[in-house]
Amino acid sequence: MYAQMIRSEATQDDPERLAAFQARIDAGEKIEPKEWMPEGYRKTLIRQIGQHAHSEIVGQLPEGNWITRAPTLERKAILLAKVQDEAGHGLYLYCAAETLGVSRDELFEMLNSGKMKYSSIFNYPTLTWADMGAVGWLVDGAAIMNQVPLQRTSYGPYARAMVRICKEESFHQRQGFDIMMKMANGTPAQKRMAQDALDRFWYPSLMMFGPSDKDSVHSAQSMAWKIKMNTNDELRQKFVDQTVPQAEYLGLTVPDDTLAWNAEKGGYDFAQPDWDEFYDVLKGNGPCNADRLEARRTAWDEGAWVREGMLAHAEKKRAARMAAE
Ligand code: 3HC
Repeated sequence: MYAQMIRSEATQDDPERLAAFQARIDAGEKIEPKEWMPEGYRKTLIRQIGQHAHSEIVGQLPEGNWITRAPTLERKAILLAKVQDEAGHGLYLYCAAETLGVSRDELFEMLNSGKMKYSSIFNYPTLTWADMGAVGWLVDGAAIMNQVPLQRTSYGPYARAMVRICKEESFHQRQGFDIMMKMANGTPAQKRMAQDALDRFWYPSLMMFGPSDKDSVHSAQSMAWKIKMNTNDELRQKFVDQTVPQAEYLGLTVPDDTLAWNAEKGGYDFAQPDWDEFYDVLKGNGPCNADRLEARRTAWDEGAWVREGMLAHAEKKRAARMAAE
């Protein structure tokens, strides 16, 4: 319905203005907040940046779950820093979304009521310490694959937020790979944990790129507007091509019997994830959907006193400024 609304509003815009706008996009210009933009462009950005921001915030939960159980002080400090970074990413992205005329309260309301999505990957549980390795290596690895091209996206505030986010995501990916190296070269039981984490996170990581191109609702328009720079399948292929040699280096096996190098295409042939499972997770039926939303709603309710205090303080300062003028 949201997509339909976007399309119908886009057609209401004046064709000449739309053509001039498209020419700016085609010329590689950045669109800035105060400039004219088609309603559909604005709404698509709110949807994508909002979902992205929510993913960063909800993505803190599966890893936050392991901070108290990290095996060493050093690992705990690294994980804490990573989880804090995700909060920062959420902040940059909510700020970018706010420049499009949506308030942060509205965005949170849409997340908490289930009206707006966040990445499917965070509805899977993190069962062992090796999952912290797999999440960093695969989930942050997939996130980077998607986000590096977004540094060139057409909307200025989004592109600039992505520059900083990508720097931090590459640290996240490396710390995950480092955990995997330790586990894969550890005791036989540790290596089994690493393999089990790869087995469970491989297909959900492939789902992060979205449905295959033939089923992607938004790709064509989003790519024309340079809100997306690549198709879902292009990025998934690049991720597989990059990650398979890394798994080999770790001495682990990608859980795909059909995986084979295809010299002609210069990439791997690989099995698609179970798309029925993907759509089921999007509908709210993944293993952790209910827990994740519950945690977010609780955080919102329990943070009410902080928001009220901050607003009261801002109001007091404003009143004092007015009185002094
Ligand atoms: N999880 C949840 N929903 C997904 C999804 C996923 N992995 N992939 C696609 N979808 C949804 C879309 O949002 C869309 O639903 P909607 O119409 O209700 O919004 C529907 O499935 C159809 O998919 P499309 O391919 O048509 O959608 P998009 O063109 O928006 O492409 C996308 C999906 C590739 C995820 C794109 O939105 C994108 O590039 N987003 C920016 C990056 C992002 O959000 N990343 C989140 C990853 S996690 C993260 O960054 C945290 C880090 O710390 C690990």
